[in-house]
Amino acid sequence: MGEAVKDQTEEVIQAWYLDNKEEDQKLPHHKDPKEFVSLDKLAELGVLCWRLDADNYETDEELKKIRESRGYSYMDLCEVCPEKLPNYEEKVKMFFEEHLHIDEEIRYCLAGSGYFDVRDLNDVWIRVWVKKGGLIVFPAGIYHRFTVDSDNYMKAMRLFVGGPVWTAYNRPHDHLPARKAYMKKFLKVIGDRNIDASA
Ligand code: LAC
Ligand code: NI
Repeated sequence: MGEAVKDQTEEVIQAWYLDNKEEDQKLPHHKDPKEFVSLDKLAELGVLCWRLDADNYETDEELKKIRESRGYSYMDLCEVCPEKLPNYEEKVKMFFEEHLHIDEEIRYCLAGSGYFDVRDLNDVWIRVWVKKGGLIVFPAGIYHRFTVDSDNYMKAMRLFVGGPVWTAYNRPHDHLPARKAYMKKFLKVIGDRNIDASA
C-alpha cells in the first residue's frame, strides 16, 4: 500500500488492542495506554482495507475495479440501527458472538460506523473501527465479531462472491476446512510448532 493511500485509509479504518473488559461492548475499550495496530499488521492477518468515496458508491470506478478483480458479483445494503433492524438489541448481541465464515466477509461502510473485532495470530482481540468510506475484507476462517459503537448506526454495503451465504459458525469450529486453510496460510509458524510437538 502506498504511504499516502495508507494515511487516507487510516482516517476511516483504525485498529487497536482491546482492554478485554466486559462492560458495554459499544464502548471503544482501549488499553491504558492505548495500543494501536497498523493496517500492515491487519494485512498480516489477511484483513484488507480500502478507503473509497462513499457518497458516490453508485458510480465509483474504484469500487467497480475492486468488485471485478475480486469477483464480488453480489451486493446489498443493510442498515444496523434500532429503527430499521427488528429485535435490535438481540441482534447486536448475536453479531458479537465470536464466529467465523467459510467465505470472506466484505463490508463497506456507507454511513455511521462500527467495530469489527478480529483475533490476532496469538489469539488476542484487535478492535477495527470502520467509518464512512472504509471497505474491509475479512478472510474466510478468521474468528471475529461485530458491534455498533455508541452511535448505534451503521449503513453497510455487503459484498459476496456469487450467491450470498451468511452462515456464522460460532467458536469453536476449528475442524472446518476454511479454518484449517486460514491457519495454514496465516498461522504457519504456530502450525509448524504444533506438528513438531506431536512428532
Ligand atoms: C456478520 C458480522 C456480524 O457475520 O460479522 O455479519
Ligand atoms: Ni461475521
